[in-house]
Amino acid sequence: MNGIEDLLARMTLTEKLGQLTMTASSYAVTGPVIAGDSTAAIKRGEIGNLLNMVGAGPVHEMQRLAVEESRLKIPLLIGFDIIHGHRTLFPIPLAEAGLFDDAAWERTAREAALEAAADGLAMTFSPMLDVSREPRWGRTAEGPGEDACLATRIARAKVRGYQTADLSRADSLAACAKHFCAYGGVNAGREYASVDISERTVHEVHLPAFAAAVQEGVVSIMPAFHDLNGIPMSAHGPLLRDWLRREQGFEGVLISDYNAIAELLRHGVAADLPEAAALALNAGMDIDMMANAYRHGLPVALERGLVKMEQIDASVRRVLKLKQQLGLFDDPYRRGSQRESAQTVAQRRQLAREVGARAIVLLKNERDVLPLRHTPRLAVLGPLADNGPEMCGTWWAAHEPGQHISVLAGLRARYGGPALAHAPGVGISEDDESGIADALACMENREAVILCLGEAARMSGEAASRACPELPGKQRVFAEAVFHKARALQIPVIVVLFSGRPLIVPWLCAQADAVLAAWFLGSEAGNALADVLSGAVNPSGKTPMSWPRALGQVPVFYGQRPTGRPMDPNDYFTSKYWDVPNDPLYVFGHGLSYARFEYESMRLSASELRETDTLEVEVTLRNSGAQAGEETVLLFVRDRVASVARPLLELKGYAKLALQPGERGSVTLRLPMTELRFLGADLKPVHEPGEVEILAGPCADRAQLLQAVLQLH
Ligand code: IFM
Repeated sequence: MNGIEDLLARMTLTEKLGQLTMTASSYAVTGPVIAGDSTAAIKRGEIGNLLNMVGAGPVHEMQRLAVEESRLKIPLLIGFDIIHGHRTLFPIPLAEAGLFDDAAWERTAREAALEAAADGLAMTFSPMLDVSREPRWGRTAEGPGEDACLATRIARAKVRGYQTADLSRADSLAACAKHFCAYGGVNAGREYASVDISERTVHEVHLPAFAAAVQEGVVSIMPAFHDLNGIPMSAHGPLLRDWLRREQGFEGVLISDYNAIAELLRHGVAADLPEAAALALNAGMDIDMMANAYRHGLPVALERGLVKMEQIDASVRRVLKLKQQLGLFDDPYRRGSQRESAQTVAQRRQLAREVGARAIVLLKNERDVLPLRHTPRLAVLGPLADNGPEMCGTWWAAHEPGQHISVLAGLRARYGGPALAHAPGVGISEDDESGIADALACMENREAVILCLGEAARMSGEAASRACPELPGKQRVFAEAVFHKARALQIPVIVVLFSGRPLIVPWLCAQADAVLAAWFLGSEAGNALADVLSGAVNPSGKTPMSWPRALGQVPVFYGQRPTGRPMDPNDYFTSKYWDVPNDPLYVFGHGLSYARFEYESMRLSASELRETDTLEVEVTLRNSGAQAGEETVLLFVRDRVASVARPLLELKGYAKLALQPGERGSVTLRLPMTELRFLGADLKPVHEPGEVEILAGPCADRAQLLQAVLQLH
């Protein structure tokens, strides 16, 4: 610590502000500001942190400028958006959420960290923890889906995976939890828009994952672009300073989003850059990413008395401490000094394949049309059938183009070329139907159609909202023609659907014999899909977000609060739509298997408990199918009567169980009664005795859940 104080005492204001500045190399730009040549500024100590650089060579050269040619020789902090892998891409986070597997989430983060650290990087702007019930919002692809409990578990696993217990290790990365907070609630799903939601929802749904990340030791957090109920998050003192730092004890670094501090002017809360910089600093923001608001605005803000030098010093201390924790002062070149072996890289690809296969959600499987057990003659159709790069989804990080396996390539590797006929039919979003006839011709003399449809990778992720999250371009016209012909030929159509969000395609799901939600599975997508289609891997993924029947249902999610007039077909004045049912097409947790799991019984360790006790819930299942498989058992609660209306179901845990055909087995889930606390009318945690329903089953459909009642004292 003394080293940091000594350094601070020797720093000029310019050098201090340099430590609070992060600027981009020319690798990629996601905002309106493009950095010029930064090297001279690094030597002058005016830039202390970089983003969007890759490769140990360039990273070390920048580091050399800082530690050998700048006056104070302070190493740079260099970060990158390693969202679902670095060079090897794993499934997009939304897809990975459907694994319900803490160990796998941690493992892929660890592998991403190993690969990125080998490239010289020290920080990732991940995990993204924005719970969202809004499929129009493209950034759902990067997040945990609709559930707060799942988000907290992902938060912990990812922070552990990136950071390890020792951040100074040459293969650890500083994690950055983002986007703080409630970004998933943007109005009408439009990117960068306002968020206008209740304080209760903020606390119950959006903050828990960040609290979990802080408890797990996350060293940085990125406030989001949006305003929350009128206050832009970059200047949100009550949440950044009071909740995050004071209440949660977060001692790490707050890094702004790209140019977000300057955007306070456009939000209409600052008149000029010094005011914007002062608002952000006063709220607790440490690093200014890409706005140059601190470098250019804070000197004026100091003169105007809008900020104090002690606040600048406090932020500089936090940044220097992070660099110290990362071991950068001891050896700024420790990351990126060792090349990974070909074997290591091959093993990572294998992991991407395994995780990819496990992330696939089997939405529908009529008459057990899947798996395709023998070597069938297949027509592999659709614009996403032979498209490796599209498999990666949003945030491609430092992926190597040409290294990604398309569905066609994966199926060829499994079944051999002659078994397959291929035609794209239409483009992903082009207005051109001229290829449809050729594609229909491919269906002759085939036993089944694999129809690969969906969004382009760029249609989800940052700045990629869609007002109509359906199939783009002429894909519907094409799909209808394929269904028509398949009916005439009496062959099944298996739809493989690629998307960064739940798509709204009830017409497609109604006509297809089988539907696989393939999200975007990363580098090994085609092999992972071939594994599942062929039955080499039994699908076990569950959707972490509800799939709406119609856009008008949005937001549709399982954790709704009860209405005083629940839907009743015999009573007109109840909560319903004229034109669609209330429930989604596929509910949270839905995901079929080639095995058949029957939930037989649930046993509670006690029928009455106190707040300090822990309940054990034993759930017994039987696999009555013909194939071995793994099931994730979900545990929900419902507080029947409370001082505040509680959700109809709340996820509290999950556990996995593998069963052979005909086998019966049990899992035991532990539920500490403290988990039943909730926020009272004053938003303070309360414990309220009463009856609590305990429910377990495959998904958030109450009809499929085993139920028992617990008396809480
Ligand atoms: O980390 C990202 C963030 O998620 C969105 N804006 C740009 C940042 C840096 O690339």
